[in-house]
Amino acid sequence: MPDADALFSPTRIGAIEAANRIAMAPLTRSRAGMDGVHSPLAVDYYRQRASAGLIITEATNISRQGRGYAFTPGIYTPAHVEAWRPVIEAVHRAGGRIVCQLWHVGRISHVDLQENGAAPVAPSAIRAGELIFLETRTQAQPSMPRALETDEIAGIIEDYRHAARLAKEAGFDGVEVHAANGYLLDQFIRDSTNRRTDAYGGPIENRTRLAVEVVTGVAQIWDADRVGVRLSPLTRSAGDTPLDSTPQATYGHLARELGTLGLAYLHCVEGQTRGPNAADAFDFKALHAAFGGRYIANNGYDRRLAIDALASGYADMVAFGRPFIGNPDLVERLRRDAALAEADRATYYGGGAEGYTDYARLDEAALP
Ligand SMILES: Cc1cc2nc3c(=O)[nH]c(=O)nc-3n(C[C@H](O)[C@H](O)[C@H](O)COP(=O)(O)O)c2cc1C
Repeated sequence: MPDADALFSPTRIGAIEAANRIAMAPLTRSRAGMDGVHSPLAVDYYRQRASAGLIITEATNISRQGRGYAFTPGIYTPAHVEAWRPVIEAVHRAGGRIVCQLWHVGRISHVDLQENGAAPVAPSAIRAGELIFLETRTQAQPSMPRALETDEIAGIIEDYRHAARLAKEAGFDGVEVHAANGYLLDQFIRDSTNRRTDAYGGPIENRTRLAVEVVTGVAQIWDADRVGVRLSPLTRSAGDTPLDSTPQATYGHLARELGTLGLAYLHCVEGQTRGPNAADAFDFKALHAAFGGRYIANNGYDRRLAIDALASGYADMVAFGRPFIGNPDLVERLRRDAALAEADRATYYGGGAEGYTDYARLDEAALP
């Protein structure tokens, strides 16, 4: 029987010292202002969860253009830096570590969320299906995007670098480049959303080029061993995005390229995001091997699966998403093998403290 201690032993993930093997997965909660500035509620929310070995923040917009959902935070203005600073300080004071997930949504956006009603940008002008959340608290289909011109791509990479610089200024322990879940970088990677004929479209080497160039650029701002990358070869969300036609080859090539950069970690969503774990439907081990560095596994993990993944050496950390919403003290609950509280899906996105900072810890929940 594998040892539960596997979950709780400290580890180094790149240059980051983590107190245990439990990561908090990035979770959009849509409680910032429309200017992307967090309120002090976010300080409480992240502080409550600081016993995670590593917190990966909710996806954070690298630019106004990169925004696709109302009330999501940014990391591209001085006000963003000032709002993140107390969050990071609170997590550090509680002994935790926190990296910022850098996000450009690409086509998963709406003219109402863009500057002067501009069209969202994407590798190709192909419209996404799934609904997104607007300032009016209504949902809408993402707008028809326009294809980025080749000479605009350097500017996108520069936006990532600018955000990475501000994340450093704010005091984060590192950054995670969000190349998963059908957002901009993943839209370039997949042949279903990339019909370009320039150096960023066509064969696998071309489609993965932007992700590699972004990560390379960010790793010039941060030491590479403080930069992680998230991939999700098997998910259709966001945007009901069809998968790449040869995901094993495509993401395998990307993992190999990323492996040459000396990064902190590769983080994979194993399956349809929020669906069951599908580690047996795709060779994530091959991805991990191609990358050659530390591996964070995610999607549908429970205590048993996490212990097995860590004890067998399959993963170096396991990221939990939904369990961290309803269980701020998830680490303690896993330690005691205690019951987990179910989070209220109605308050996943938007609103205030309710369903955000008011979930009880085990010791509080046990009180009469
Ligand atoms: C409310 C909610 C918000 C999410 N936001 C993000 C996000 O900002 N960035 C991201 O990469 N994944 C996001 N995800 C996906 C999670 O990080 C994670 O991959 C997914 O919940 C599966 O893990 P779990 O089974 O432990 O919940 C989100 C998931 C949920 C439920």
